[in-house]
Amino acid sequence: MKKLLIISLITLGIFACKDVINEIPDNPYQTTPYAFDYDRTLLPPPRIPSDNPLTEEGVLLGRMLFYDPILSADSTQSCNSCHNQSNAFTDNGLQFSTGIEGITGKRNSMPIYNLMWHLDGFFWDGRADILRHQAILPIIDATEMNETIDHVLYKLNRSNSYKEQVKKAFGEEELNEEIIGKALEQFMFSIVSADSKFDRVMLGIETFTPEEKIGQVIFNSEAIPIQEEADPNNPQNFGADCFHCHGNSLFMRREFLSNGLSGNGDLGLAEFTGVRRDEFKFKTPSLRNVEKTAPYMHDGRFETLEEVVQFYLSDMNASSAVDFSNAPNMHALKDSVYLSPTHKKALIAFMKTLTDEKLLTNEKYKSPF
Ligand code: HEC
Ligand code: HEC
Repeated sequence: MKKLLIISLITLGIFACKDVINEIPDNPYQTTPYAFDYDRTLLPPPRIPSDNPLTEEGVLLGRMLFYDPILSADSTQSCNSCHNQSNAFTDNGLQFSTGIEGITGKRNSMPIYNLMWHLDGFFWDGRADILRHQAILPIIDATEMNETIDHVLYKLNRSNSYKEQVKKAFGEEELNEEIIGKALEQFMFSIVSADSKFDRVMLGIETFTPEEKIGQVIFNSEAIPIQEEADPNNPQNFGADCFHCHGNSLFMRREFLSNGLSGNGDLGLAEFTGVRRDEFKFKTPSLRNVEKTAPYMHDGRFETLEEVVQFYLSDMNASSAVDFSNAPNMHALKDSVYLSPTHKKALIAFMKTLTDEKLLTNEKYKSPF
């Protein structure tokens, strides 16, 4: 009996030992799941692709790449050059971004936050299906960083700090195109905006001013025909119908739509699909942080929110190029909405409650260098 016990103990010992030994060679790199630190009450559950879970190491590698001008042909431009944190990761107030060759693109830079909930394609025309594919395109775009993947990989793989980080994050000796895409995807997915005044009001921590409150009602009410007898004190009588396309806690509709704006030579979604009914449809932007992302629209044609509101309320007929059957809500809107100057101001005051100072200053999104 005693002998048997000793044998069992030895066997157990061997097994225990084997387990420990096994862990090391099977798992040459130890990653730490990325810790998000935002309040999850209001936003949908995180959506992370199962083949690219966010890890602290992968997010850091992506952050290094995002801020590194080595990605451009002459090492002068990084992603951050046109996506600056203090402007909610848009360009620095520029209508069109300029690439390394001094070539100006035809579209306004887009903000980067809450991208894990963008399900229907990236860029104003949706030509990139998933984020890791999108991330490669600016590097090889002649009007942007104008580099080749082979040369970027050659430069990156000469660097010891990248070699160390790729080992930690992906267990590989060297970077390759797929890893660049996945790492940038991880960093960009880690950028979340969920701490604006609006969020804090929804969570009961702060309150709107009376003006912001009126603006919220106008934003979230149906456009109803102007009525002579409408009570001027009831903002619901003057709904601006914004919520149909910029509603819910993400302040965007996950669709490509026409808001009645003429394309100015840019066909939007149709440039990618080639389909007539997609003409002048653009990715519907989130209005979070809109105070910081001027100028506005795919071509940055409006400099202020006042101009945007003016467009929605009265200038619709000017865009005769638009097929309004593509923009049913707008059709109703252009015939019916009237906002007094006070109500316009209130609508804008509400939109400004969507500014998230934490996004604009969070150390986790800053340059790691
Ligand atoms: C020269 C300026 C410039 C540089 C450099 C640049 N971008 Fe952009 N970015 C833009 C512009 C302009 C758009 C909109 C282009 C379009 O729709 O055709 C855009 C769009 C995007 C989008 C789409 C967002 C959405 O909601 O669909 C993402 C993501 C993005 N860029 C990430 C990056 C990354 C990552 C890098 C670095 C590898 C980078 N950008 C480099 C100007 C730039
Ligand atoms: C039919 C859907 C729809 C409705 C309704 C709508 N929008 Fe938009 N909005 C869009 C689309 C699509 C764009 C992008 C258009 C473009 O760039 O050509 C946009 C762009 C914007 C932008 C520019 C954002 C940026 O980052 O450039 C602002 C601001 C805006 N809308 C505010 C509003 C307000 C305020 C209302 C209510 C008066 C409203 N929208 C109603 C679909 C809509």
